[in-house]
Amino acid sequence: MRIGIFDSGIGGLSVLHEAYHRLPEQDYIFYADTDHVPYGKRDPKEILEYSRESAKFLMEQGVDAIVIACNTATSVAVRILRQEMSLPIIGMEPAVKPAVENTDQRRVLVMATPVTLTESKLQNLIQRVDENHRVDLLPMPELVGFAETERFETPEVLDYLTKQFATVHPEDYAALVLGCTHFNYFKNLYRNFFPADTALVDGNQGTVRYLAKLLSLDAEEDAGEVRFKMVEEMTERTVYYASGRPVTEKETLEHFLRLHNRLEEMREIC
Ligand code: DGL
Repeated sequence: MRIGIFDSGIGGLSVLHEAYHRLPEQDYIFYADTDHVPYGKRDPKEILEYSRESAKFLMEQGVDAIVIACNTATSVAVRILRQEMSLPIIGMEPAVKPAVENTDQRRVLVMATPVTLTESKLQNLIQRVDENHRVDLLPMPELVGFAETERFETPEVLDYLTKQFATVHPEDYAALVLGCTHFNYFKNLYRNFFPADTALVDGNQGTVRYLAKLLSLDAEEDAGEVRFKMVEEMTERTVYYASGRPVTEKETLEHFLRLHNRLEEMREIC
């Protein structure tokens, strides 16, 4: 099957990476809307427009299904795109449900972009699943830009995290929900702030599992380590687009390769 995955930028690579682990036999087209990243601070009308363009582009490439590998775009656009298009569309939402259901009675902290945090989709989800009012919300808009420019263990990222986490009490949390696909790149850094037993919960596994179910694919086995030494190994498995233009520059492809390899390291941290 041919699966199209889109995000505002490189956050969606974390979903593609998980798909390599669970659905290694499929063909992928990855679309990063790099002309318009970040989505998380934009007007929802613009986000809908950009998401529609991305989805339309993927549909024209003949994909069997589309994954919106972006919590922000999903919260604004998934319902409308499903009405407008006839192929299966899988969205993402912050993994609040598993975080609430699978943890003890301590609190749950959901980090996401400002748009995701204010849209009704997340508000409704919290109302449905957070019976004991354990969920707190924390916007983390700047992490998207840091990830796009490959700034991870830099002083500015550490300062930003220190400032943001100073507004909560990390020891109160049973789970930290990564409600934006760009946040997966910083898992090792969250560990500096939260106790060892605070679970880091992202929606990637659930999304890939749901994709498999929808397309009747078998997703039980993990294909094992996914690392790339050469760009060719990476492009053999997926065609990459940046806002509709094929990504061919060596520099950008090497950037994606480093990101995939970083995601493989981050995957161990949970
Ligand atoms: N990666 C996206 C998400 O999951 C949004 C990042 C952005 O463009 O603000 O929410």
